[in-house]
Amino acid sequence: MFKKSWNFIGRVDEVPKPGDYMSFVLFGEPLIIVRDKAGLVHAFANTCRHRGTRLVEASGNRALISCPYHGWAYGLDGKLIATPGMEETVNFERKDYGLLPIRLETWEGFIFVNFDARAGSLAEQLGDLPALLASYNMGEMVCVRRREYELACNWKIYLENAMEDYHTPTVHKQSIGKQLTERLESTGDWRGTHLPGAGTIALLPEDGASAFPPIPTLAGLAAQGTYFLALFPSTFFSTAHDCMWWLQEFPLGPKRTKVVIGSCFPSTAVARGDFAEKVEKYYRRWDKSLPEDNAISELQQIGLGSSLSRPGRLSFREPVVHDIANWLLDRVLD
Ligand code: FES
Ligand SMILES: [Fe+2]
Repeated sequence: MFKKSWNFIGRVDEVPKPGDYMSFVLFGEPLIIVRDKAGLVHAFANTCRHRGTRLVEASGNRALISCPYHGWAYGLDGKLIATPGMEETVNFERKDYGLLPIRLETWEGFIFVNFDARAGSLAEQLGDLPALLASYNMGEMVCVRRREYELACNWKIYLENAMEDYHTPTVHKQSIGKQLTERLESTGDWRGTHLPGAGTIALLPEDGASAFPPIPTLAGLAAQGTYFLALFPSTFFSTAHDCMWWLQEFPLGPKRTKVVIGSCFPSTAVARGDFAEKVEKYYRRWDKSLPEDNAISELQQIGLGSSLSRPGRLSFREPVVHDIANWLLDRVLD
């Protein structure tokens, strides 16, 4: 299911300059994301075309991608350009052994990859979501912080939790408190809710309504509240009046998930002299509320692991939990 979908894996502003790269393992597949000299961003399998060694780790900047084993070297566009010691190998052509590309598409600065050559386009998967979010101008935003958590729960528990407000008065009693959202209509592989209200949702109540001006282009419902969005299969977006953040839920196994929270602000806010000081309030909010969601998700996983656990009933405050289950059923059953 994951490998047939477009999966959000990062922002183009994480690899801003030619030679910038990042690497990670996605659904067991080691990947490289790299920006070439012409400015194009590529995704490649992080495996040497000679005898398969993993090529790079972590992130950084480099002029070439060279293999630590026998020294084959690839350009940033994936072309094999140096093969020391291969002079005697007959019928060997470098052009046949470039890095293996993975499909990559971007939307508003967000990078998505897809392992399935037959899958439709990213635009098809997103449906009407780009129109809904156009007024946030997210392509102009900058990712200012990413934080990772490795959790003992599956990715689906985590996505469901992010998409229902039923738990907010209990789980978030000490932080953000109760929220009452409204479900949105959608076309495409996403579902969402809207929380009406003035001011940003990205601050703790004691830290005020907003530390930065609202995004000036906001229109329609975007100007009147906050969106909480599930981008199937496993990404959550929230778009507020002055910023947006995401939660990526990377499945590490049936009971383990790597969660990455990324925070983006308009480049005009990031350029302000007081940005570094004021953004701390936003970090405080995420660093307080997210561990609350993390802890409750791990408790749910433990309880669901009981052979005596049985499905219960959903509240009217959990419509998207039902949507997530139906989306999954459509993909795992005929
Ligand atoms: S495995 Fe990479 S050069 Fe041999
Ligand atoms: Fe929550």
